[in-house]
Parts: sequence; C-alpha cells; structure tokens
Amino acid sequence: MVAPARTFAHDGIAFGGDYNPEQWDESVWAEDVALMREAGVDLVAVNVFGWARVEPRPGEFDFSGLDRILDMLHAAGIRVNLATGTASPPPWLAHRHPEILPVTEDGTHRYPGGRQAFCPSSPVFRDAALRLVEAVASRYGAHPAVALWHVSNELGCHNALSHSDASTDAFRRWLRTRYGTVAALNDAWGTAFWSQEYGSFDEILTPRAALSARNPGQALDFHRFSSDALLELYRAEAAVIRRHSEVPITTNFMVAAHIENMDYWQWAGDMDVIANDHYLDHRLGDPRTELSFAADLTRGLAHGTPWILMEHSTGAVNWQPVNHVKAPGQLARNSLTHVARGADGVCFFQWRASVQGTEKFHSAMLPHAGTDSALWREVVDLGETVERIGEVAGTRVVADVALVFSWESWWATDAETRPSAAFGYLDQVHAAYAALAGLHLTVDIVAPGAPLADYRLVVVPGLHLVREAEAAVITDWVARGGTALVTFLSGTVDAEDRIYTGGYTGPFREALGVRVEEFAPVPVDAVLRLESGGAATLWSERMRPTTAEVIDTVVDGPAAGSPALTRNAWGDGAAWYLATLPDAETYGRIAARIAAEAGAAPAARVEGAPREVEVVRRRGDDRSYLFVVNHTVEDVRVHAAGFDLITQTPVSGACEVPAGTVRIIREECAS
Ligand code: GLA
Repeated sequence: MVAPARTFAHDGIAFGGDYNPEQWDESVWAEDVALMREAGVDLVAVNVFGWARVEPRPGEFDFSGLDRILDMLHAAGIRVNLATGTASPPPWLAHRHPEILPVTEDGTHRYPGGRQAFCPSSPVFRDAALRLVEAVASRYGAHPAVALWHVSNELGCHNALSHSDASTDAFRRWLRTRYGTVAALNDAWGTAFWSQEYGSFDEILTPRAALSARNPGQALDFHRFSSDALLELYRAEAAVIRRHSEVPITTNFMVAAHIENMDYWQWAGDMDVIANDHYLDHRLGDPRTELSFAADLTRGLAHGTPWILMEHSTGAVNWQPVNHVKAPGQLARNSLTHVARGADGVCFFQWRASVQGTEKFHSAMLPHAGTDSALWREVVDLGETVERIGEVAGTRVVADVALVFSWESWWATDAETRPSAAFGYLDQVHAAYAALAGLHLTVDIVAPGAPLADYRLVVVPGLHLVREAEAAVITDWVARGGTALVTFLSGTVDAEDRIYTGGYTGPFREALGVRVEEFAPVPVDAVLRLESGGAATLWSERMRPTTAEVIDTVVDGPAAGSPALTRNAWGDGAAWYLATLPDAETYGRIAARIAAEAGAAPAARVEGAPREVEVVRRRGDDRSYLFVVNHTVEDVRVHAAGFDLITQTPVSGACEVPAGTVRIIREECAS
C-alpha cells in the first residue's frame, strides 16, 4: 500500500479540459497537442469514456492507444488527470449482464445507449468496474504523466436513484446497519401510521411508485442510502488505485442547481482534492449568482483549501432547453470568478468539439470553427491570463459570513406531502445568498454543525432538517456574541423527519424568542405587503414573539398581523428570524441591516455599489489578492492599492475596472 499524497501539487493554476481523442483519427492528435501548447493547456482528463476502447472484449485489454496518448502528452509537458474509465460501461457488459441496468421507481429498466447505464449497487457492475480499474491503475500507476486520478465521472449524474433488485438488497443491508432492529426502523419511519409496520427487513422495498404519497422517512433514507452507495463505489475504485499509485485521487462533483442526490458533505473527506463541474444554468433567474454560490459551496467542501474546477464550458452546453452562448469576455469572467472563490484549476468539457455523438452541439476549447474564431482567441487569452496569475495558487478566500447548507434538508423538503409545493429549498438558499452577494459580502458555505468562530454573521436559510446538536452550535455561537439570521421552515424536523413540537423552529425556538403556531403559506402569485413597505411572497406564519422584538409585520394574507421579521437578544449576540420570503429589494435591505449590526464587510468598497460587481479576497501567509469581477456594462471604481496582475500596472488607492473585465490586485497590505 502506497501512502496517499493527499494534495494536488501544481505549479500555478492548472488549465485544460477533458480530452477524448478516441473520437478522432490518430493523425489529429499531434495537432491537438500543438494547439494545447498554444493555449497554455497543462492538465487534461483522459480515458473518461475509454472503457470500450481499453477493454473491447471482457477481460481483454488493449492499452496501445492510451499508452500513445499518455506518452505524447507527457512529452509535451502536459499533465494527465487519468480517469478510471468506469463511467460508461461498454455495450458488451449490459448485453451479457442485463441485471446491471438501473431500474426506475415504476419498475422499468433504463437501457444502454446513453451513458451511466448501471445500478450503483450492482455487484456485477462493481466487479467489472474494479477489474478495469485494476488494469488501468497497475499499468499507469507510476506513469510520469499522471498527476491526478479521476474516479469514474460525475458519479450519480444520471443513475443516482435505482430500484433494481440489487439496490433493494443493498438498501436492506444499509437499513440493518443504520437501525439494527426492524422495531427501531418502524419507530424512525413512523410506520405506526397508515398500517405500515414492517415485520422484517425483507419486507422493505425501495420507495417505488405508489398510488398515494409514500412514507417520507423511507424516502429520506433512500436518498441517504443512494448517496452512500455511490460513495462506496468511489471508495472501492480509490482503494484499487491506491495499491498502485501515490498520486492524489478525486472525482468530479456536480455542485450545481439541478443536482440534488449526492450529500457531498459526506463525500468530501474521501477526496484528496475537491473537484467540481459547473455549468451556467439558464433555466434559473440568476445563473451568474448561482455560479458564485456553487463555487463557494465547493470551497466549503474543500474546507477552504484550493479546489479544481474540473469542467465548465467555453460557450453553450447542449442539454438545456435553449443553450446560451457566452457574451464576449464572459468566459474569462466566469473562469476567474471560480478562481476568485478558491479554484486553483480551470478546466473545460471538452478540448475539441465533437463532430458526432450526443455532445456534438456542446462547446469546447477548440470549436468546430477552428482556430480562426473569437472563441479560440478567448481560450488562448484565458490560458495566458491563468499563467500570469499563477502566484495566487495556494491562497485561501477570506469570508465574514457563513451560510449553512444541507442536502438532507433539500431531500426532506422535497417530500411528496409538505406545507407548500412551491417551497424549494435551493430557492431559499439562493435568495439568502443573493441578498448577501448584492452587498458584495463573501460567503463561506458550511455544513450544519460546522464551527463558526471565524465568522461575524451566520445565515441559516430553510434548514428544515436539523439535529439538536447542530442547532446548538449556532445558538451557542450567538450566545457568545454572534449574529444569526434564521429563515422560515428551519428547525422543523429532526434527523428522522419527526416534527419538533411545541412551536416550529424547534431547537432554534428559544434563541429566536418566537412561537410559531401554524405555517400559513400563500398561493404562488400572492404578494404580501409588509408594514415596513416591503413586499414578500410564498410564506407567512401565525406566530408571536416570546422574547423577540418585532421588526416587521405581515399586513395581509392568512397571517395578517403576524411578525415577518424579529430580532432576539440571545446571550451576548442576536438571533434574527425571517418568517416570509421578501422580494429581492426587501431582502437586500434586511441583509444590509443585519450585516451592519454584525460588522460583516465586503472585501473592498465598490463605488456606486452595483450588485453585478464581485469583490473577493484570497490571502496567503504573506500576501493577499483582491479579485474584482465587473459583470456590468459600465466601468467601476474599487478602492484598492497594490499591483494589478491582469494589466501588470500599479494601483494606488483606487482601481478602474472597465465594463466586463476582471482585475486581480496583489495588495500592498491586506485590510
Ligand atoms: C458533464 C459531463 C461531461 C459532459 C458535460 C456536458 O459535466 O461530465 O462528460 O457531458 O457534462 O455539459
């Protein structure tokens, strides 16, 4: 067993992308490498979808192509992020073993023809995958080009929830381990209601399609199990690699708006370096702010250490209803926003645009139009920029604010029966984050129960499922002088999805100084007026203060006259409670007032304070860097002093940041 490396050592910021040369004749490969060098590429992911090539028939391996690719890249000084290749099983596997196929909740199979056509709990798939990993890792474990191992690809992207027989068996085993006895399981799931009591673990199924709503405890545990099953696959592959290589191992997370099924707080500790894939999602109201949130959450998973952006796009993707191109300059702004927020690697899917197959309309670093294109020039420019700012690598982002995020709360609020189907957990998180981002505050995203000593303000949006001990970390921190903003639905259920009685907000109730008697959600198009003149939607509550001061009140709707915003002095600190969803402007005002009280400040002062300007500081032992990303169509002035790495010019006192551009200022003295 070789000792794990645990860090990804790279000189500067890594730059590159997925390289899938299987798609082209070998004569193209030399041009690829020459152009990679022109673009400053120094890290490429290979063999992501290589299984069918390296194991064309069961147990028969052919590494001749991959050998040549690795040697060629190595000779050019390009490091390799080597995938195990298990993400897309070749047709022969399902043909011989149809039992590996995933099954949906209505009992139908999902067939091969796409990718990830396997059930994560299939022992047959696992054996075949580990045989491949053994072959790849033993062959390339000591290859000098290999800088990083890339387990599978986006584990759980398509196949996270499978209801196959293998999955059912594994779910039962998982439940046995969690509960020990079926009596404990019955208690946890509340099966006494609706005549659902189980007599043995063998009677339990995965939550398959039913005629009515299903047991929410069962659904929640199925989410936990499914996330764990994928993590087990990761661990199994990583263990095989580790026997042959000391190079760091990771897999690419999907911290993104539409991906809900993996609890990455549980996964992060298994990664030697955190890597994320992020694509702007134009189905959202504010894709740009979601990018910043996702980057901050990825940094949270890395516990503040640098992470790698393993994939994003140079332009349009091909899987949204309308696939938007990027505006001129947006590629650099997006990439450097990730760097500002802690990424030490900027990579893309994929190097050369496919001309065939499912992703032929997906952008790439080298577009169909070739090198005589604006997109290629932007890629080359970005490569130069990334090279120029290499000295920021290894520094860490500084944040005054923490936002508590929980995949379990996301799953629990997605239950089939709930107070309002219009409540979206992630929407609430995004709304709170947007209010903070609009004030230019840098936000760390933390897990429930994470230590809070470094922060001035903690925001807890819709933390529906919370353990008493996790809530106590927040309320104790407030008592010691912290300021927290907790928003509605927080503290509703415990880890077993059981309501905390005695007034909602459960373990937060005393610190918040309120008594919430009934939820009073409102129709989606209803707008609630607030006494302060603000407006709100979605939610109100019949509640009253016990010890809290009422700051704002709902004027109309089913909870007219009830508080909308309260503040409770708790120990040496203050606990604020927001019982509705304010519109963006009102939320911004509320966040500004609370942030000011908490003493949370942006990394730099932006004149005129347009919300589409981002300011973030990364700090090392003896240096700091101020990133300013101007997404507006106006030039802005930011107060800073030092040396701008982008324009290579000194900055004294104030820095002009032209419309649509980025500045990265090595500061003379960090504030
Ligand atoms: C994911 C996958 C890639 C590719 C991109 C397209 O990130 O990992 O293989 O399909 O999506 O956006």
